[in-house]
Amino acid sequence: MTDLIARLGEAIGASHVLTDPHDLASYSVDWRGAYRGTPLAVVRPGSTAEVSEVVRLAHDSGVAIVPQGGNTGMCGGAVPSDDGSQLVLSLNRMRAIRSLDAGSATITAEAGVVLQELQSAAESVGMLFPVSLAAEGSCTVGGNISTNAGGTAVLRYGMMRAQVLGLEVVLPDGRVWDGLRSLRKDNTGLDLKQLFIGAEGTLGVVTAAVLALQPATPSRATAWVSLPSVSAAASLLSVLREHAGDWLSTWELVSRPALELVVAHGVPDPLTSEADWFGLVELAGPAGADVGSALEDALGAAVEADLVLDAAIAGSASQRTGLWSLRERVSEAQESLGPTIKHDVSVAISSLDDLVSRLAPALEAALPGVRPVIYGHVGDGNLHYNLSRPASLDPDEFLAHAAQLSTLVHDATVALGGSISAEHGLGSGKAATAASYKSDVEVDLMRAVKQALDPAGLMNPGKVLPLQ
Ligand code: FAD
Ligand code: MLT
Ligand code: ZN
Repeated sequence: MTDLIARLGEAIGASHVLTDPHDLASYSVDWRGAYRGTPLAVVRPGSTAEVSEVVRLAHDSGVAIVPQGGNTGMCGGAVPSDDGSQLVLSLNRMRAIRSLDAGSATITAEAGVVLQELQSAAESVGMLFPVSLAAEGSCTVGGNISTNAGGTAVLRYGMMRAQVLGLEVVLPDGRVWDGLRSLRKDNTGLDLKQLFIGAEGTLGVVTAAVLALQPATPSRATAWVSLPSVSAAASLLSVLREHAGDWLSTWELVSRPALELVVAHGVPDPLTSEADWFGLVELAGPAGADVGSALEDALGAAVEADLVLDAAIAGSASQRTGLWSLRERVSEAQESLGPTIKHDVSVAISSLDDLVSRLAPALEAALPGVRPVIYGHVGDGNLHYNLSRPASLDPDEFLAHAAQLSTLVHDATVALGGSISAEHGLGSGKAATAASYKSDVEVDLMRAVKQALDPAGLMNPGKVLPLQ
């Protein structure tokens, strides 16, 4: 291995090949401290040619590679194994916006560009890059593509996959596939880029992408609402759509325990309502769009239909930021309770109420006092059904129940025709679970694709598909 490290240093500069345990620390563990590994080394190539050379050298030495972007993933996908055998390939030096074409509404960005930088680049030409999530200050374009990230505007713009027009990928043997096309229409055979979107680095390293931009939406109207039930939250979607049409960009749900956590972290609650469910609604339109009236009309109709109990509409930019914090800070606030057993499930919107009502008694029976902290992208039928420990249990005692509790959540979701990972992917944490719910045919197809692109099994092994 000393040989490989030396050759990597010659290829990309010794200062970009990290081997000192102190330098490896932040690349070896995910942001929650839930997944830990020990890399052989961390390599930080600065160009596609350098990524290609690193991957070729590792391939020729039979060494596995774990691509890493902002390391904000939820399922351990960017964390190496703990046996010191895998290289972490960080994309954090590849941060160029290669081109921005406002006329064609496209932007070409390297994989290490941070999502917020991409959004700012779009804004600088009066346009919008619509994928938005609470980790946008750290997560990267390459990570967003590789996890097919969702976020808070999916109901209007779709997931990351919907924004990708073209990709540049370094294949597992080091060859470069230049698929950086900015076409809206291209039916020349298989749409290969789709293979790499959501593949979590198991089929190659994404080095750059052409992404579609949208017209800017400077007119915003934002409200925080309290609701009588989850079924009201589901029905509210139709009312919002009726009044706001395509202006509806965000419909997010927050349960009372989730809200209480955020409030305990210093975010003021404008409603101080006794309700069990809350939500964030945002309408966004072009300059001059009367989104405020549309929101008031929609909420008025919802109150009359008993779908909304109370509402606070942001009257200023800072109030809007405050309302967004009530939703976006839940994830971070829940970490203060100790380890979280995370679930990222989706069902048809009409089945959300059923899911929540089935799970509450089943979880309480399995572990009395367990604390569900439910929130998520209700407009997409996607709930983060996260669990915190009962006050009576220490973290290890709680985690000993993880498999049993997760099986209850996943079984109930799948029984309703849902998915056990709506937007976070599988990483190492959920690979085996997902395979256990898929048919043999589906798992075989996934393995066939992996075998075709990565016959040596060196690209992020054990992620997405469990090792055989
Ligand atoms: P990483 O964590 O570094 O990597 C994720 C996976 O992609 C790994 O398997 C890694 O190997 C692979 N990968 C990374 N870069 C590349 C590349 N260039 N080529 C090939 N493979 C690569 N996610 C959502 O979908 N919706 C949300 O609303 C959301 N909210 C979040 C809120 C918070 C507070 C946090 C911390 C995370 C949230 N996430 C959410 C999860 C996370 O931010 C996303 O999964 C994000 O897309 C990961 O990007 P990253 O650059 O951090 O990727
Ligand atoms: C979010 O939407 O806030 C994240 O995807 C959820 C999480 O932290 O579980
Ligand atoms: Zn989410």
